[in-house]
Amino acid sequence: MLVCPTKEEIRALAAGYRRARRSIALVPTMGYLHDGHLALVEEAKRRAEKVIVSIFVNPTQFGPNEDFSTYPRDTDRDLALLRELDVDGVFLPDAQEMYGENGGTYVDVPELSGILQGALRPGHFRGVATVVTKLFNVVQPDVAVFGEKDYQQLTLIRQMVRDLDMPVEIVAHRTVREPDGLAMSSRNVRLTTGERSGAPVLSRSLDAARQAAADGKTVSQIKAVIESVLRTASLGKVETIDIRDAETLGEADELLERPAVILLAVRFGTVLLIDQAVIQAA
Ligand code: PAJ
Repeated sequence: MLVCPTKEEIRALAAGYRRARRSIALVPTMGYLHDGHLALVEEAKRRAEKVIVSIFVNPTQFGPNEDFSTYPRDTDRDLALLRELDVDGVFLPDAQEMYGENGGTYVDVPELSGILQGALRPGHFRGVATVVTKLFNVVQPDVAVFGEKDYQQLTLIRQMVRDLDMPVEIVAHRTVREPDGLAMSSRNVRLTTGERSGAPVLSRSLDAARQAAADGKTVSQIKAVIESVLRTASLGKVETIDIRDAETLGEADELLERPAVILLAVRFGTVLLIDQAVIQAA
């Protein structure tokens, strides 16, 4: 496994793979890897002959009052995990390497970056779209794997790739969960013991919603079901419950004649937990 701190090194590695006619899959991450990230790497291995993982805590997607400086980091452990999975290359730039000579150019998908989580986190998705574009341009992968956990991010990246004709296939991977249902996240380590034991309420509410959808309930009724489950959380503060069209994130069809996605954001102390589930009528 070659660890490349510079664009030049990772470009040279990827160029060598292309010359040898090997397909390349990229898994972009911010590190502090957990089994969710590792499942994306396994998926990448199924999709291409060579796998490159990027680890970069991207400053431009954090707001001024967000957790950029305290975002958990453990590069040695991350590299050991990736080595075990036989990853071929790791792109590990610092912010100077990534953005050093930046003239202020950015990529934005305004229709998707200003809604939902984007309305709560101004600039976040512009930072994501820009860094992912840069990663695509440096590595030039055939395939890139993203998690459904960050559903709005996934939708936005698909739209960006379509709008800008980027020659990369976007593959989605389902959300990987702890045994009690909590969606894995690098931020889970920041939950106190009490918050951690309350946190599975998100996935419980999604299970109840899936059942309600199977029982033929409407979107408004399903939302009421979710609210009633989330209300049982003593420590969590519900920030948003949105049910949107699963493909466009526009308004959901009340009768669920098209698949819809439930997007939850619940704050536990300092940690904002998000979760999602796609639902459809039985
Ligand atoms: P990060 O939060 O590190 O996540 C990297 C990838 O892992 C994303 O595609 C995310 O959706 C996926 N992921 C996280 N938790 C998951 C889980 N429990 N199950 C399945 N997949 C999961 O998302 C980012 O980094 C950044 O915004 C990035 C795309 C790297 C751009 O900076």
